[in-house]
Amino acid sequence: MFAYLRPLLFALDPEAAHNVTMAALKSGLMRQAPADDPILATTLAGLSLPNPIGLAAGFDKDAEVPDAMLRLGFGFVECGSVCPRPQPGNAKPRLFRLVEDAAVINRFGFNSKGMDFAHARLSARMGKPGIVGINLGANKDSEDRTGDYVSGLRALAPLASYVTVNISSPNTPGLRALQDSAALADLIARVMAARGAAQVPVFVKVAPDQGEADWATITRACIDGGVDGLIVSNTTISRPALASRHAGETGGLSGKPLKPLALAALQRFRSETGGALPLIAVGGISSGQDAYDRIRAGAGAVQLYSALVYEGPGLVTRIKAELAALLRRDGFANVAEAVG
Ligand code: FNR
Repeated sequence: MFAYLRPLLFALDPEAAHNVTMAALKSGLMRQAPADDPILATTLAGLSLPNPIGLAAGFDKDAEVPDAMLRLGFGFVECGSVCPRPQPGNAKPRLFRLVEDAAVINRFGFNSKGMDFAHARLSARMGKPGIVGINLGANKDSEDRTGDYVSGLRALAPLASYVTVNISSPNTPGLRALQDSAALADLIARVMAARGAAQVPVFVKVAPDQGEADWATITRACIDGGVDGLIVSNTTISRPALASRHAGETGGLSGKPLKPLALAALQRFRSETGGALPLIAVGGISSGQDAYDRIRAGAGAVQLYSALVYEGPGLVTRIKAELAALLRRDGFANVAEAVG
């Protein structure tokens, strides 16, 4: 079906195509993916996942279609980034397909309907099965960005399976500075204090573009602060060799060209953490082999977004079948055995 739809979607402006896709998902016509192979069941920071393939943040920014995405076969869905107050994000165009590179560049800049909207959406699905996390961002004009994460967590953690603190979007000026040592330790302390009774796992999502000293600093701040896991990684501001005419657009690059960078970042964090922190790998994953490589490199689960643009929703079922076959080929009884 996607083979027929893809040319139609690709004839549209990318953001318009995304909006059409969202409308289709909201219609609720998606078919339920087949039940998961039991070899794929796993746990991540105490969360029971039917499979380790998650939807990365940014697809469902306002928590409008988490159940439709679970029906497509994702083992978990991360909504957001949600900012406390509604904000429009950057001027359009702000999303680009790099078809020749199987990549995407976005500079959305946290367009968000705000946490009250997300709260209403997540409240409406309370009691439904499935692991749905919420990814938090900060408002562009906020005077206290750390405070934004605290208020987002207070409002939304009670409605989510986990919370991700996203300090690695390249599209909000200055946001990545929160990854710096003192700012990060303070952010983590305030967020973990605010979690209080909610007791949902808190993950920190990092960039693939760290300076040499930063890997260790981030790792130490997260371990010392009691964070439950690291999501590695967000989009890159670097530009590996690209063929598409959109290569020069400002923003975060994702998809296939991010794959080596995200894998290297994962390996780096694995070696810094020594396995002490659960890792969720994301960046350029588009096959069961890609997912398996990240798991072998230390990830307890993976996420993807850009490959969906090019391969369509059938990709999720295909990746799971390929991953199950690879686990069996190498004699693993489950995902956890293969991690690292
Ligand atoms: C993203 N990503 C993202 N991440 C995040 O934490 N909050 C967000 O709001 C967004 N928004 C967003 C929009 C678009 C259009 C894209 C393509 C990506 C980053 C995303 O979650 C993921 O980390 C990267 O895209 C790398 O994975 P893929 O796309 O290469 O599988």
